[in-house]
Amino acid sequence: MDKNRPIGVIDSGVGGLSVLRALQKAMPHEKFLYLGDTARAPYGTRSRETITAFVAEMTDWLEQKGIKQLVAACNTITVLGTSVIRGSHTFPVIGMSRGVEEVLQATKNKKIGLMATDFTVSTGAHRKEIQNADPSAEVFGVSCTKFVPLIETAQFGSPALWEAVREYAEVLKEKKADTVILGCTHYPFVREQIEEAFGSGVTIIDPAEATAKLAKEELERQGLLQTEGSGRCDICFTGDMELGKRLAARMLDPAACEFKQVKL
Ligand code: DGL
Repeated sequence: MDKNRPIGVIDSGVGGLSVLRALQKAMPHEKFLYLGDTARAPYGTRSRETITAFVAEMTDWLEQKGIKQLVAACNTITVLGTSVIRGSHTFPVIGMSRGVEEVLQATKNKKIGLMATDFTVSTGAHRKEIQNADPSAEVFGVSCTKFVPLIETAQFGSPALWEAVREYAEVLKEKKADTVILGCTHYPFVREQIEEAFGSGVTIIDPAEATAKLAKEELERQGLLQTEGSGRCDICFTGDMELGKRLAARMLDPAACEFKQVKL
């Protein structure tokens, strides 16, 4: 395998750009090929069969581009399992870290909140992994269904967004969670609002950096990590490009990215 090949990064929309930011920071010499299915987001309210079919279209597209690794920068896709995501392809797949280590380090009362999509919460994947590491930890999941459509349409200061943030935060405050995982890669786009709603006693965990570390370690293991040359980001969306670029500018330097609309 040639280490000059790009790393593929997928998400249902713009959310994975929060992970791409961490990937780029951890591996500045790599070429990234990001594919966000903005035309069909959100995925998190769809069935397992539909999500699996959409993911297969994305991975087929990236296979043709010759990627050396695939990062599922999406929790909803990750909980399908790496073998389902990989399908019949040969590239290694890195899924989103569940942030277990950071969470257990941060919590004092072992009451942990999970903000994620319907699909992710329903699988119980975070709860299982956290309780495997510490059976005395309690995990409370809240499906934040209103977030992704508001983020994908850039409604950051809107009353609807604030109302949704307060509604979901309230559920976890009632449970006395002192640590909250952003279990959907879209939510770092509204991290400030989430932090404000919880106030200072709650630690917010974004597993993007931990995920980037996993991706880097895997490339190192395979001898495929780029250690010189200038990196690059090609960002492809299936939906509206103007909106996509505007949202990307919240996470990355748009001048350092190439944008392209694609059809799957
Ligand atoms: N960004 C995604 C995640 O991490 C998916 C959001 C969605 O499309 O519902 O779960």
